[in-house]
This record gives sequence, C-alpha cells and structure tokens, in this order.
Amino acid sequence: MTDTIVVTGGAGFIGSNFILQWLAHESAPLINLDWLTYAGNPANLSSAADNSRYTFVHGDINDRELVARLCREHQPAAIVHFAAESHVDRSIIGPEEFVRTNVHGTFSLLEEARSYFDALPPEDKPRFRFLHVSTDEVYGSLGENDPAFCETTPYAPNSPYAASKAASDHLVRAWFHTFKLPTLTTNCSNNYGPFQFPEKLIPLMIHNALRGKPLPVYGDGQNVRDWMYVEDHCSAIRCVLHNGRPGETYNVGGRSERRNIDVVQTICAVLDELRPASPFAPHARLITYVTDRPGHDRRYAIDSSRIERELRWQPQVTFESGIRTTVVWYLDHQDWVAAITSGSYRDWIETQYAKRGGA
Ligand code: NAD
Ligand code: TYD
Repeated sequence: MTDTIVVTGGAGFIGSNFILQWLAHESAPLINLDWLTYAGNPANLSSAADNSRYTFVHGDINDRELVARLCREHQPAAIVHFAAESHVDRSIIGPEEFVRTNVHGTFSLLEEARSYFDALPPEDKPRFRFLHVSTDEVYGSLGENDPAFCETTPYAPNSPYAASKAASDHLVRAWFHTFKLPTLTTNCSNNYGPFQFPEKLIPLMIHNALRGKPLPVYGDGQNVRDWMYVEDHCSAIRCVLHNGRPGETYNVGGRSERRNIDVVQTICAVLDELRPASPFAPHARLITYVTDRPGHDRRYAIDSSRIERELRWQPQVTFESGIRTTVVWYLDHQDWVAAITSGSYRDWIETQYAKRGGA
C-alpha cells in the first residue's frame, strides 16, 4: 500500500476545497475521481493542475471496473468519498439521480473498497480507511428548543436528498459491522465558502444581489441552519481521517445557528459596505419572500462535542468573518461565476423560481 488517497467528487464545492487544503498541508499524493456533473468544475482545481501529487480521473463512482483499476494501480491508503448529488431542491424535482449516485454509487464504492481491503497484506490493513462525507440532514428537523443533533440522534430524513444520504450512511455502517471495512463517517452542517455552486443559498444571494435580482427567501425566512466555513469542514475531515476510530461517526458543526433571513440580511449589509455605489444598494430592498420548499426542515443544529473532545478539533472561522471572506471571494471571482452561470444553470433557475413567483 502507498500513502496515496483517492477522493471522489473532488471537483465539487467541498471536494475542491479539500484537495487544495490537502495539497497545501499534507505530503501524500491524491487521485480525484469525479464524473463532472453540472456541479463538478475542474476550474476549481486549476491551481493544482501542475502539482505532481495531484491526478484527475474522469469517471463515475458506479463504474466498478474503473474503481477497481484505480485501487489496483495506486494502492491507496484511504478513500475519501464526497461524490454525491447534493441539492435538496433538485432532489425534490428529480430524486432518481440521488438514489443512483448517493445510494448505489456509495454501494459500488464500498464493494470495491472491500475487495481491495480484503486482498491487502495483513501489515497494511490497520492503515486503510474509507471515509464517508455525510450531512446533518439525515437527522431530520429540530424544534426551536430541541437539543442539537448528536451522533446518537435517531435518523429521520425528510427530503429525497437526506433520505439518500441516510441510506448511504447505513450502508457504510453495515460494511463496517459485517465486513470489517475500516469506515469513518462525518455528518456536517451547511457549508459555505469559495467554489460553492450558485444554486445554494449563500452564493445565490450574492449572485442575485450583484445583478439587482430578487433575493428569494423561502417561506417566512425563519428556518435555521448551522453554518460552517468550508475550510473548517475540510480540516475536520483530515482530522477524522488521521485520528478517527474505525466504525465511528463524527458530527461536525460550526456552532453558528442563523435564521435564513438573518443570513441574507448579513450578506446585504456586507455588500452595501463593499459596493456602496451599487445602483442596487441598499441590497436588502431586493429580499423577496417566495413559496416555501415542500417539507422544508425548520431547524438544524449540530452538537460537535465528540470530535472536539476525542479528536481535539475545533472550528477556526466565525460566521461573521467567514461570510465576509466569502462575499469578497465571489466579488473577486466573477469570471468563475460567469463561466458556470450559462446554459443549464439558467434553465435550472428559470424552472425553480418561476414556480415560486419570486424571480
Ligand atoms: P457538490 O454538488 O458541489 O459536488 C458534488 C461532486 O460530486 C461534483 O464534483 C460532481 O461532479 C461529483 N459527482 C456527482 N456524481 C458523481 C458520480 N456518480 N461519480 C463521480 N463523481 C460524481 O457537493 P458538495 O456540496 O461539495 O458536497 C460534497 C459532499 O459533502 C456530499 O456528499 C454532500 O452530501 C456532503 N455535505 C455537503 C454539505 C454542504 O453544505 N454542501 C454539508 C454536509 C455534507
Ligand atoms: P440550501 O443552501 O439549499 O441548503 P439546505 O437545504 O441543504 O439546508 O438552503 C439553505 C436554506 O436556505 C434552506 O433553509 C432553504 C433556504 N433557501 C432559500 O430561502 N432560498 C433559496 O433560494 C435557497 C436556494 C435556499
């Protein structure tokens, strides 16, 4: 076995941040297996393209021959699995792809990881890890005064996305218990930061505000998410990969619960400050309440005391500083946004928001 790790879905939002952080802080080579769906963007990794420790492989996690070949050729010490369909609204309009990628894709990967692991020489086995990147949405929705999700909170997924991730978590758990595959699972709260596809709340609001378009807030805007700066999530994954106990799950959260309306107001205030001469300032005038998402979870909150206590990990970035960095990043990377907000992105926005009556 080598030190190389295989990452799936590394051309997406969190995966690309993870790869850039890995190459900056770790010495082991990394293979990125990504199918480049609408959410995958090799431009996120242009700064890594010439790095001799980075290899991109275009392919589907459901392609078992390809995954087997990658394991045979690179003899990885770990598989870090990000690849997924990740957008709740898309899962409501078209859930099938979520089952195909998130459930069957994870199954395929687990099976190939198991064949590879079983054939490893005994001295290598203790080092191998399969790390599955999951979400807090598997736990369902909290009431205003409920305690935050911990690792023993019962699963109660509400959206097709959350259900498909819950199914994948269960498969990972079973492959540990039944086949002794050394798995680790992380369940993280909502991420934000550079390279997030502008269909998700924070980049969508920045994108629309800069163009004077309505800022579509679902329902009453009182839904709460626990926001985590993406670099903190990536450092938590590295920490779990190096120090986590096989078979264990770790909740990762930013201790930054915010109501959606407050997040949008904060973005508007930062834009007002950074772009005072904009014809659209004050940007909060653009806020438009639109029809709610069906089955919209009211509140997510993560209790991350296990990873903090057992692995000594802590988030470093406050919401206030992370959101400012993120707004600045989007202002400085309008070419990145322009390159993806063409064609199929525009079709999505039209289908999604025409029905809601907001945009
Ligand atoms: P994303 O949608 O930005 O990226 C997904 C990536 O997976 C893309 O590069 C895409 O091309 C790739 N992919 C999709 N199907 C594939 C397939 N069949 N084979 C290979 N590659 C494929 O997603 P993200 O926001 O970066 O999320 C990454 C992971 O983290 C997901 O598993 C998600 O469930 C989890 N997660 C996300 C958040 C969040 O707030 N975004 C929070 C917690 C957990
Ligand atoms: P999102 O970024 O889609 O993440 P998730 O649904 O996985 O939490 O949405 C975050 C919150 O913002 C969620 O409560 C839905 C809400 N939202 C809006 O109010 N308007 C929007 O246009 C979008 C995309 C999301």
